[in-house]
Amino acid sequence: MKQAATGLSYYIVLVTGDNLLVFFDSSCRPVVSPFKVMAKVQRCVRENGPMFQGYGYDGRGMMDTGLIAQLGPLATLAGVWEGAMGEDIAPSDDRGTERNQFRERMAFEPLNSVRNHEQTLYGLRYITTAWRIGETDPFHEDLGYWLWDAEAKQVTRCFIVPRGVSVIAGGTVEPSAKSFSLAADISSHTYGICSNLFLDKAFKTVRYELTVTLLDGDRFHYEQDTQIQIPGQANIFHHRDQNTLSRVKS
Ligand code: HEM
Repeated sequence: MKQAATGLSYYIVLVTGDNLLVFFDSSCRPVVSPFKVMAKVQRCVRENGPMFQGYGYDGRGMMDTGLIAQLGPLATLAGVWEGAMGEDIAPSDDRGTERNQFRERMAFEPLNSVRNHEQTLYGLRYITTAWRIGETDPFHEDLGYWLWDAEAKQVTRCFIVPRGVSVIAGGTVEPSAKSFSLAADISSHTYGICSNLFLDKAFKTVRYELTVTLLDGDRFHYEQDTQIQIPGQANIFHHRDQNTLSRVKS
């Protein structure tokens, strides 16, 4: 349910999964001529900019430029991105090393401000999906939030990999930074890592490091190193991923 101020009165606009628009007036009565309301909403958007918070992961919605302005070093990321030059080094079936080339799609949508008493955060809800080149089923996804605490100059990426690993990675970042690094460590109570029971025994993620570089307003590069402890192996396994993504939607 989304509410749109048309300048004349308020209309409730219900947007269904099939993109069917249903209009109600301020007394919740269905509006007989939705086309007139739509024209008013369109005029208001033209004059005042986007008013809806909703921005689907498919990128069909509209961005709130006011919220993006509060995102500090994360502002550039708002939007939808794709890149087909991904490189992955991961544990293979025999616990050796496999290399994969992949394409990836990331979507970031601004959140309303988050208040933790004295702390105010702005952020992006995001999802990333990766496919081996030439395949149609994804082989990796992760889902979560990127958050910006302007007062403490902290960027955090809080996410879940559906294998059953959750990470809060963080770092100190200047608001205008074009490149920044985040890390999480299994020993930390703040920027830490949790794995499910199986992974904790067999593939324990002990550290996670990420560097993001904004190449320009429409391209960014990331490199991440997920450090995994595998019983029987003397060395930590460096599960590395990198890609360069280009904006496909603002
Ligand atoms: C673009 C990002 C990533 C890609 C493409 C990717 C891909 C892979 C692949 C191909 C494997 C080998 C197992 C398989 O074939 O399915 C794997 C294993 C694993 N990944 Fe990732 N991964 C990514 C990011 C991450 C991140 C961020 C984490 C955790 C913070 C993670 C945690 C793990 C763990 C714990 C395993 C070991 C489980 C196993 O091999 O059975 N991965 N990943």
